[in-house]
Amino acid sequence: MTRPTTTLGLLGDTASRDYADKLRLFNAFAAPEIRQAIASLALKPGMRILDAGCGTGEALAWLADDVGPDGAAIGMDLATPHVRAAHSTAAKSGSLLLQGNILALPMVAASVDLVWSVNVINHLRSPVAGLQALMALVRPGGRVALGQSSLLPDMYFAWDSRLERLVNEAVRQYYRDRYQLDERDLTSIRAIAGLLRQAGLRDVHVRTFMIERLAPLRLEDENYLLNAIFRGTWGSRLQAYLSSSDHEEVMRLCDPNHPDYALRRPDFHFLQSFTLAVGVV
Ligand SMILES: C[S@@+](CC[C@H](N)C(=O)[O-])C[C@H]1O[C@@H](n2cnc3c(N)ncnc32)[C@H](O)[C@@H]1O
Repeated sequence: MTRPTTTLGLLGDTASRDYADKLRLFNAFAAPEIRQAIASLALKPGMRILDAGCGTGEALAWLADDVGPDGAAIGMDLATPHVRAAHSTAAKSGSLLLQGNILALPMVAASVDLVWSVNVINHLRSPVAGLQALMALVRPGGRVALGQSSLLPDMYFAWDSRLERLVNEAVRQYYRDRYQLDERDLTSIRAIAGLLRQAGLRDVHVRTFMIERLAPLRLEDENYLLNAIFRGTWGSRLQAYLSSSDHEEVMRLCDPNHPDYALRRPDFHFLQSFTLAVGVV
């Protein structure tokens, strides 16, 4: 299979790629569940934590709160625009930020108590190698916590399982075409528990948090679903993958000015999973 040679990651990440807006929208939307996931780690003041692939730095700031002034929350990301955004998000927490590749990080071995990494390992062409590079940074007895959203199919259209199935399949096919991937190339989106074991972590356990929203939505929820999903991910991109009548219906459901707008339906009920897999080094 021919792969684009100009991109570094499986999903097109490079040092200059910028999807900071989408990351900010996601973190504002999923903040309650991500903070619950962080709380499940029972972090202690004074700990040193690396947020690998920190994106725009929201979780970095929450991690920094938990470890306090005697600890350290270090953020790193491949993309310069994301590191820049994380600088402003986490400015108050005094977090350290690095730009670099997980596979070649300029950090001292065994220097952190925990690596936190959310929705990143599935962007790597060699997830086990990435995980092992992160494990090398953790002291013996420390932990690696990998978070991944949507291990289960999401529920968007609670009232229409057929249209939802077609849209989910259309989105997946769109991404496979865009990045020239086979369905099996995307296995690491769902195989995180197995990856931790394969990489040699011990005492692996998992916990799934459900991001569940019901109409009426909070502003953060509507902002993410409308701008990042309906406009940013779906929209005209799905046209080639749906029949014209299904695409027209999706466009009506995604249009805030249309009476059929999904996010204002009283039967709008949304589900998305967020799974945290943790193992000991
Ligand atoms: C989907 S985003 C997740 C960001 C953040 N963890 C969050 O939950 O909002 C994936 C992030 O991983 C970064 N990334 C991708 N490949 C990377 C690599 N090889 N090394 C470091 N960061 C990488 C991207 O630049 C992007 O910021």
